[in-house]
Amino acid sequence: MSTTEQPTTDAAPSPALPDGPRGLLIGGEFVDAADGATMAVHNPATGEVMAEVAVAGQEDVDRAVRVARDAFVGAWRDVTPSARGKILWRLADLLEENADELALIESLDNGKPLAEARGDHGFSAEVFRYYAGAATKIDGRTVTPSAPGPWHAYTRREPLGVVGQIIPWNFPLMMAAWKVAPALAAGNTILLKPAEQTPLSALRLGELFLEAGLPPGVLNILNGDGAVTGAAIAGHDGVDKIAFTGSAETGRKIVHAATGNLKKVTLELGGKSPNVVFADADLEAATAGASAAIFSHMGEVCIAGSRLYVQEDVFDDVLAGVADNARALKVGPGTDPGTQLGPLVSVEQLARVTGYIEDGLRGGARALAGGARHGDRGYFVEPTVLVDVEPDARVVREEIFGPVLVARPFKDPEDLAREANDTRYGLAAGVWTKDLSKAHRAAAELQAGMVFINTYGAIDPSLPFGGYKESGWGRELGPDGLDPYLQTKTVVVAL
Ligand code: NAI
Ligand code: MG
Repeated sequence: MSTTEQPTTDAAPSPALPDGPRGLLIGGEFVDAADGATMAVHNPATGEVMAEVAVAGQEDVDRAVRVARDAFVGAWRDVTPSARGKILWRLADLLEENADELALIESLDNGKPLAEARGDHGFSAEVFRYYAGAATKIDGRTVTPSAPGPWHAYTRREPLGVVGQIIPWNFPLMMAAWKVAPALAAGNTILLKPAEQTPLSALRLGELFLEAGLPPGVLNILNGDGAVTGAAIAGHDGVDKIAFTGSAETGRKIVHAATGNLKKVTLELGGKSPNVVFADADLEAATAGASAAIFSHMGEVCIAGSRLYVQEDVFDDVLAGVADNARALKVGPGTDPGTQLGPLVSVEQLARVTGYIEDGLRGGARALAGGARHGDRGYFVEPTVLVDVEPDARVVREEIFGPVLVARPFKDPEDLAREANDTRYGLAAGVWTKDLSKAHRAAAELQAGMVFINTYGAIDPSLPFGGYKESGWGRELGPDGLDPYLQTKTVVVAL
């Protein structure tokens, strides 16, 4: 079934990619790889190559680790907490001053609509400001031991050292912000590896950090793929911690790679998050919320509300509304004015998402909207709503990471909780009801790191973000997001 406007072949040419750094950022300079290796960066709206960036091999990773270690025990250690905070705040200002350019870079590289890129970057600026304020509030405690004394005992909160940060392609600049901001606030130095699909906004971020006054070597940016560059960082004995966002499969590889020096690891992995609409909900709000939960950012969102559970009396009405919303979305290049759903990030992701849709339809699912690729140029997929799906179908169990919703009716809250929790994941959940006690009972019952009530995906720099079960280890954002970048030292003095 083909429901959206057809093809994009005769669309206007994409706007030109702004100039910007294309090298590796090591020691405060953008440089070529030691072996000269480069890789192509594609525009997912057209499939065309837009740029070439340098690719870090083992030698570059080794050098970046040395540079980051030198900065950690050198220039960066002498920067006061207040001065660290000022650099982060200045960086936030620079993100806003360069908002148009950064949004264009992101939209061309990732595919997302300009308005969504702008929203990501505004949020990123606020994350930098939140942790700018945190830099001056990192305190230990004085402690009174009970052993025969007298004693003077206290704790210090110290940075870990050199941290490796490996990020995905769905929110390229925002994922960098979530990782870089708390790490710098805490006084660490960084090796950041952007996703191979979307390196450009992170490179521009590196350039802005130098403009903001960050000393050379504190933030190093190493482009490259996962198997070589990512694995070299994750397995490096000179790296004290890895923070990773991406697939559960790669998360497992990172855990294995970390065993050499037992580096600390935090993981933000995938999800298959249930979004639950009770019959007593504000159905108009719930319908709009359920649509946005799966179709914003092309559904390439770890917290996407990708499993919709609607109480049976209102199932048909809500699903008809969600399908109408899906059909009404304007699909096109992210840089076209008015686009609401851009292309998927890569040809691999296009194959993956259309493969899931076909698998679902073969297994007996019915598409109320969408159900196929959109057009024949670029990596577009129709916003898709699948019903008549069984609980054990792959489309119900596995993360699709595209604009594909599966929906099932439920009778009573007990059945609902059992089915909603029947997943290896536990990232987020949504609940729509006007009944307060029902809402809070569901919030307690759902196994998820974040529960959204009468809204979906409401995130904030102050709110901890992370997963239960196989959705991850640790939290980002909020005070909890600073902890993984600090370690506690106890100092005991016999008086
Ligand atoms: P991925 O998890 O392989 O890639 C994420 C990052 O990890 C990239 O920077 C990549 O270069 C790096 N990486 C890959 N292999 C590595 C290794 N062995 N060692 C160190 N770093 C490595 O995700 P991919 O392949 O791009 O997407 C596949 C699926 O993963 C998606 O369809 C989606 O389901 C899920 N995913 C989830 C994300 C989330 O936000 N939770 C983000 C991206 C993907
Ligand atoms: Mg991969």
